[in-house]
Amino acid sequence: MIKVLTVVLKRLMIPVVLLCGLLQVAAQEIITVETAENALVFEVNEDSELNAIYLGEKLQYDEYSKIPAQYKQGSNYTGIYASAYTPAGSKNFLEPAVEVTHADGNMSLSLEYVSSEQKEVSPGVTETMFLLKDKVYALEVKLFYKSYEKENVIESWSLIENKAEGELQLRKFASANLYLYGNNDFWLTHYSGDWAMEMKPETSKLSHGVKVLDSKLGSRANLFQPSVFTVSLGAPATEEYGNVLIGGLEWSGNFRNEFEVDPLNNLRIISGINNYATAYTLEKGENLTTPKFWFTFSNKGKGNASRNIHRWARNHKVLDGQGSRLTLLNNWEATYFDFNEKKLKKLIGDAKKLGVDLFLLDDGWFGNTYPRNNDDAALGDWDVNRKKLPNGIGTLVETAKKNQVKFGIWIEPEMVSPDSELYHKHPEWVIKQPQREEYYFRNQLVLDLSNPEVQEFVYGVVDNLFTENPELAYIKWDCNAVIYNAYSDYLGEDQSEFYVRYVQGLYQVLEKIREKYPTVPMMLCSGGGGRVDYGALQYFTEFWPSDNTDPLERVYMQWEYSFFYPAITMAAHVTDWGDQSVKFKTDVAMMGKLGFDIVVSELEDKELEFCKQAIANYNELEDVIWHGDLYRLRSPWENNIASVMYVGEQQEEAVVFSYLVNYRYEQGNPTPVKLKGLDPDASYAVEEINVYPGAQPVFKSEIYTGDYLMKVGVNPNVKKDNPSVVLKLKRVAK
Ligand code: DGJ
Repeated sequence: MIKVLTVVLKRLMIPVVLLCGLLQVAAQEIITVETAENALVFEVNEDSELNAIYLGEKLQYDEYSKIPAQYKQGSNYTGIYASAYTPAGSKNFLEPAVEVTHADGNMSLSLEYVSSEQKEVSPGVTETMFLLKDKVYALEVKLFYKSYEKENVIESWSLIENKAEGELQLRKFASANLYLYGNNDFWLTHYSGDWAMEMKPETSKLSHGVKVLDSKLGSRANLFQPSVFTVSLGAPATEEYGNVLIGGLEWSGNFRNEFEVDPLNNLRIISGINNYATAYTLEKGENLTTPKFWFTFSNKGKGNASRNIHRWARNHKVLDGQGSRLTLLNNWEATYFDFNEKKLKKLIGDAKKLGVDLFLLDDGWFGNTYPRNNDDAALGDWDVNRKKLPNGIGTLVETAKKNQVKFGIWIEPEMVSPDSELYHKHPEWVIKQPQREEYYFRNQLVLDLSNPEVQEFVYGVVDNLFTENPELAYIKWDCNAVIYNAYSDYLGEDQSEFYVRYVQGLYQVLEKIREKYPTVPMMLCSGGGGRVDYGALQYFTEFWPSDNTDPLERVYMQWEYSFFYPAITMAAHVTDWGDQSVKFKTDVAMMGKLGFDIVVSELEDKELEFCKQAIANYNELEDVIWHGDLYRLRSPWENNIASVMYVGEQQEEAVVFSYLVNYRYEQGNPTPVKLKGLDPDASYAVEEINVYPGAQPVFKSEIYTGDYLMKVGVNPNVKKDNPSVVLKLKRVAK
C-alpha cells in the first residue's frame, strides 16, 4: 500500500491530504493507474477535462507527462477525443460513453474533473476513483478503476448519481471508455456463434468509423456473440509477441462494445450495458452503478495476457477459483428425457464404476400435470415427476451415497413452458407482450426476473431442492431461451429499464443463493455457452462451453475460450458426439473440467479400463490443469496438430496435450514441439500417459532438462494411428 501510494505521490508532485486511509488529491495533472506491468494514465486538461494519455507497458521512470507532446496526429477539435468518460450533447461528436436527458428535457452533458482518490482495497488491489461533475446540472459521475497488481488486470466501471431535483434519464451508461494511441493500426478479434457453434473467431483490421458488437437477446445473451474480444496494436499479436489488450464485460445480459478509430487514427473502446430499447431513470439522490469491464494489456503477446486473466479469474472472480472441482457422469445424452428410477440407479452405479465424483441428473425429472417428457412442457413446475420417480429425488441421493458418489441436479429456473401449471397460475410472471401473439424459443418463455415475486420463486426452486435434499452436491443451471416480446407486467407503463432489471434480478437471486449456499458447485449453462461472463461466474464454479462435444470441435472451441477463461471453469464431457475413439474424446475433455455423458454399460471392457485409468491420471494432474499456467503451443488453426500445456505453479509438474486436427494422408507432426514455462535448470521425466490398454506408448519415456525441452522440444508423435497423445512431466532433479 505505502509503496503504491508513494509512487503515485511522486508521480503527481501535488499536494495531498491523507484522510481516513484515503488519499484525497486536489488539482492534479497526471493520475496513474498501475499494475506490475502496465499503466493507464490520465491527464486533467486546462478545461478540467479528464483524458487518457497512455495505456500500455509501464514506464520505468515517471515520464508520463511528456507523452502528449509526442503525438502530432492532427486537430482534436473537441479536446475530448480521449475522454475518460465521453459525455454526449455538448462539444463531443464521437461515440459517447454517457448520454442523459435532464428533468427539463435538456440533453447536454459536460463532465468536469473534480478530484480523485486512490486506496488499496485488499492486498495488491488498488481502487482509483475520479469524481466528475457537470457544471450546469447537478449530476455526478464517479469513475472507478480497480487494478490488480500482480495479475495485471484492471476493471473499469462508473457510478452515476442524480443530485438534481427532477428525474434524470440515462440513455447510455457505459462501463469503460478506453483510448489506445496508434496509427490506424488496430486488429480486432471477436467471436460469432450459434447453438453448438460457439466461439468462432474473426480477426480484421479496424477501419475508421465505429464497429459495434452487441447483444439484444436479453437472456442467453451470448448466443450469437460474447462480449469478450482481443485488440492487437501495430500488428496482430501472436502467443509470444505483440501488444494486445484482451477484455470483456461482467454482465449477463445485453451488452454493447464499440470500437471507433477516430479522426486522429487512435482507437476508442466503449463497453457497457446495451442501451438498445433501454433508458434508466434516476430520481433525485438515486444512482446507478454500471457493471465492471475487465481488461488486461500485454506487450508479450496473447499467451501472457491470457495467463494474467486466468490468474485474476481464479484469485478474484470465479467462485472457488482456487478450489477443486468434481468429475462427473451426466445422463443427458445417455437418456435424454427417457428415464425412470431403475435406469437412473443403474447409471449412478455406473458413475461409481467409472470412478467419477458425482452423478448429475439432467433435464426431465419434474412436472406432473404436464410431465417433462420432451422439451415442450413443465418448465416452472419443479415438483418431481411421480411416474418416472415415484420415490422422489431422495432415493437417488441415497443410492448415490451408497455408491460413494455425490448427486447433482439440473434446473432451468428462469423459464416457463406454456404447458405448465405455473404459466396458468401466474401469467403475469411471464415475459410476453400483452396484446401480441406469443413467440417461443425451444417451446418456452422467460420469467420476469425484474419482479421481486419471481425472484423469490426462482430462489425457492434452489432452496427447496436443498431443503428437501440436504446432501445435494451440485446444480446445473440452464437457460435455453432468449427474450422475445420483451414486456414486464410488473414494470407496467415504464418498460425502459426492463433489460437491465432482468439481469439485476438474476444477480439478486444468485446473491441470495450464495449467502445461504456459499460453496456448492454450480454449472453455468445456457444451451451450451449462451451465457458465459465474469458477472455470472462470481456465482458459478464452472460453465458449459457448448452442447457440441465433438472432440475435434472442442479442440478449437476450448482453444478460443482459453484466451478468456481458465481451464478450471471449462466443463468438458466425453459424449457420443463425434466418431473418434474414447481415448481421443477423453484426452480432449481432460484439457478442461472432466466429465462423462455416455452409457457406461455400452463401453467395451478396454474402453472402460481406459476411462478409469484416465480419470485416475486426471485426479493426479488436477492441480496442474486447474491451477497451473496454460501455454498454447501449437494452434489448430495453423498446424496439423493442436498442442496445449499446463505447468504447475512450482514448475514441479506439467502436462502436454496434443491432438491431430488434419486427417489427410500422412499428415502428422514432423517437428518437435517446444515446451514453455519450465525451470530450465531442472530435469523432467517425460512420460506418455493415457495409453490405451494393450497399445504401446508412441512416445519413449526420457529425462530431459527444462532448457532442452524449451529450446529443442519433444515430438509427441501425433498422427492418424495415434491422433491424441498426452505427456506428463515430472521434475526429477533441480
Ligand atoms: C441444454 C444444455 O446445454 C444441455 O446440456 C442439456 O442440459 C439440455 N439443455 C437439457 O434440456
